[in-house]
Amino acid sequence: MSLEELKYRLTKEKEEIEAQLKEIDELRGEIKYEIETAAQLGERVKNKPHKPKIMTGVGFLDNNLGGFEFGTFINIAGEAGAGKTTLLLKILTNISEGHKVLFFSYEMYEDRLIRFIRKLTSNYLSYQNLYVEQEHRNINDIENIIKAKAKEGIKLFVIDSIMKIEAKGDGVNEKRSYISATLAKLTQHLGVVIILINQVSKGDLKDGRVDFKGSGDVAYDSDINLFINLKRGKSGAVEGRRISCSKNRDGNFFEAMIPDFFAIQNEYDFSGVPR
Ligand SMILES: Nc1ncnc2c1ncn2[C@@H]1O[C@H](COP(=O)(O)OP(=O)(O)O)[C@@H](O)[C@H]1O
Ligand SMILES: [Mg+2]
Repeated sequence: MSLEELKYRLTKEKEEIEAQLKEIDELRGEIKYEIETAAQLGERVKNKPHKPKIMTGVGFLDNNLGGFEFGTFINIAGEAGAGKTTLLLKILTNISEGHKVLFFSYEMYEDRLIRFIRKLTSNYLSYQNLYVEQEHRNINDIENIIKAKAKEGIKLFVIDSIMKIEAKGDGVNEKRSYISATLAKLTQHLGVVIILINQVSKGDLKDGRVDFKGSGDVAYDSDINLFINLKRGKSGAVEGRRISCSKNRDGNFFEAMIPDFFAIQNEYDFSGVPR
């Protein structure tokens, strides 16, 4: 039996025992449910420390969303080559100038990844505060990493992409639903921001409209859904990237063009960095 299986079995047994203990307490009338009134809830919410947002440094996001609020689960989708990884790396390297962030990188070969990062930022702090995890792909490991790193103060996690996450489950939909439910719960419990990258096949793109079809409950669990659409010219060449927000629990929808993040050449010089 693997450690994972053993842990799973013991957890199940623990849950059963706890349920039986609770039943005994209920029978003895010992259990007390403290349920608050709306007045108490209002008072508690009013006294909660103000939740700041993380500014992304990307104009269309900060202008339309006012940055990312802590405790938000964000999904972004688009066809291959849409620019999902690039946009998220831009956000990560911007935010890592001032905060620790973690990138679960499963889609891009590391040599290419560091080349992209070098093109996007030359800020020394961006490199110090950006953590890159490439090894662990199981959702339970990802959950444990996020919990541990949140304790160390990391507030933003980006996962590239859901396709590469391993999870128990019978079908693709069940797996994705489990993954998104797990991540949504983590954002709420830990007050962190998690951004999950989804890939959408060309066949799923109906009239260029946003569609998380076949993604289980991902779109449902999500607080904010973003979708990148490639604008192609007659020759098929990419002429632009349009991003739209199709879901936002705060109610702010928007559409914008993604700027060319490589227009400014600011390659990071590693020569002065101790190895
Ligand atoms: N905002 C952007 N500005 C300029 N080029 C971009 C931008 N986004 C993507 N690209 C180009 O498109 C290619 C594919 O982008 P990538 O982020 O890897 O797509 P995806 O992750 O959606 O598959 C990249 O190699 C990059 O050169
Ligand atoms: Mg990608």
